[in-house]
Amino acid sequence: MLMLTRKRIGRVPRKATILAMGNRCGAAIYAGKDSFRYTRSLIRIPVRTSSRSYEVLVERGLLRSASVVLQEFIPPHAKVFLVSSEPILRLWGGPLREGLANAGREFAVVEMADGETSKRLATAERLARKLVRLGADRRSVVIALGGGVVGDVAGFLASIFMRGIPVIQVPTTLVAQVDSSIGGKTGVNLVSGKNLLGTFHQPLAVVADPDVLSTLSEREYRSGLFEAMKYGVIRNPQIFDLMESHREALLRRDPGILERLIVECVRVKADVVSADEREGGERRILNYGHTIGHALESATNYKHFLHGEAVGWGMVAAAMIGRSLKITEAGAAQRIIAMVLAYGSLPGVDVNGKRVLKLLQSDKKTMGGVPHFVLAACIGKVEVVNTVPSSAIVKAVEEVNRLSQAS
Ligand SMILES: NC(=O)c1ccc[n+]([C@@H]2O[C@H](COP(=O)([O-])OP(=O)(O)OC[C@H]3O[C@@H](n4cnc5c(N)ncnc54)[C@H](O)[C@@H]3O)[C@@H](O)[C@H]2O)c1
Ligand SMILES: [Zn+2]
Repeated sequence: MLMLTRKRIGRVPRKATILAMGNRCGAAIYAGKDSFRYTRSLIRIPVRTSSRSYEVLVERGLLRSASVVLQEFIPPHAKVFLVSSEPILRLWGGPLREGLANAGREFAVVEMADGETSKRLATAERLARKLVRLGADRRSVVIALGGGVVGDVAGFLASIFMRGIPVIQVPTTLVAQVDSSIGGKTGVNLVSGKNLLGTFHQPLAVVADPDVLSTLSEREYRSGLFEAMKYGVIRNPQIFDLMESHREALLRRDPGILERLIVECVRVKADVVSADEREGGERRILNYGHTIGHALESATNYKHFLHGEAVGWGMVAAAMIGRSLKITEAGAAQRIIAMVLAYGSLPGVDVNGKRVLKLLQSDKKTMGGVPHFVLAACIGKVEVVNTVPSSAIVKAVEEVNRLSQAS
C-alpha cells in the first residue's frame, strides 16, 4: 500500500524559488517560468522547521483518496480521532470516514461547535475529556477537518493532550488551506483577546483538497482571497499577477486556477515558516495588512468583518501608509488598492482613526506599545517598520473610511 502511494504521488513540480529580489524596488524574479504549469497529480510542498519537517499535499479530489494518503502518516496501531464540526462533517466527513474505515483504521469522530466563539479553552477541555473517555493514548493521532477554528482548536488540543500527540491538518476553507493549517500555530481566544493562549505544534502533514472549497459561502471564500493576495504582495508577484488577470475565474472558483493559486500561496507560507518557525523575524511579514486589519476587527467586536475582509482593508491602509512614507512605490500602492477593491464586496468601514491608533497602542501583542507595520516596497517585497508616525496611521484609516463609503 505504501509503495503504491509513493508511486502515485511521485510527480513533484519544480519548486519556485526566489532568484533575486532586485534592489529595493527591482522586480522580484521567481525561478521557473513553468511554476504555473500543473498536471493533475499530487503536489507536495515541503515545510522544514527545527521541530518537524513535513509536507503540504495539494490535489483536487484528494479527500476521496485521503485514506491512502493518510496511511503514509499514521502509524499502524495508532487510534485516530477525527475532530470537526457538524456542518463540515455533513459536507465532507463522508469520504474521510469511509477511507479510514476501508483502511481498517480504529477511529472516532469528536465533534466541536462551529464558529469563532467555540475557539476557547473550555472547548479544548471538553474535547480532551472526550478523548480520554474514548481511550486515546500517547500514540493516538488527531485529524483536524475544518477551517481555521477547528484547525487551531484541534491543533492546540493535540499539542497539550498527554504532553503532545500528532495532528494532521485537513483544511476546508481557503484561509485554512493557504494559511492557518501550515506553520504550526495553534490556539484559543480569551475574552481579553484573540489567540492569547496557544502553542507551536507542527502537524504531521497537511492534506488540502481544493474541491472542498466548492461548498464554502461566497463571503467566506472571498475573505480567503484577501489572504491569498497578501502572499503576492509579500513575496511572489506572480500570485498578484495571477489574481489580477484571472479575477473572474477565481471568483467563479475555476478549479484549475484556484488550485494554482493555492499551491503558490502554500509555497510562500511554507518558505516563510521554514525560515522562521517562531516569528522571530521573517515570519512577521505574514502580518501584511494585519496591523490595521486586527484593529478594525477589534473595534467592531469581531462582528462586522470576517478576518480576511478586515485584512483587505488593512492592506489598503498599509498601501496608503507606505505611499505617504515613500516606502511603497506609488504604482504598487495603486495596484494593491485597486486589487482589493476589484475583489470587493467588503463591508464598509466606520471606525475612527484615533480609535484605531489607541487600539494599536494598547494591543497586548505589540511590544512596548509600538505598532509594527509590514509595508510593501513594491509588489513582492516588504519591510517591517516600527516608526510609522501616528498621524499617518490616523490619516490612512480616515481615508479607508471615505473610500469604503464611496465604493
Ligand atoms: N494558526 C494560524 O496560523 C492562523 C492563521 C490564520 C487564521 N487563523 C485562525 O483561523 C480562524 C478563521 O478560520 P476560517 O476563516 O477558516 O474560519 P472558520 O474556521 O470559522 O470557518 C468559517 C465557516 O466556514 C464553514 N466551513 C468550513 N469549511 C467549509 C466548507 N468546505 N464548506 C462550507 N462551509 C465550510 C465553517 O463551518 C464556518 O462556519 C480564526 O480563528 C483565525 O484566528 C489561524
Ligand atoms: Zn490572517
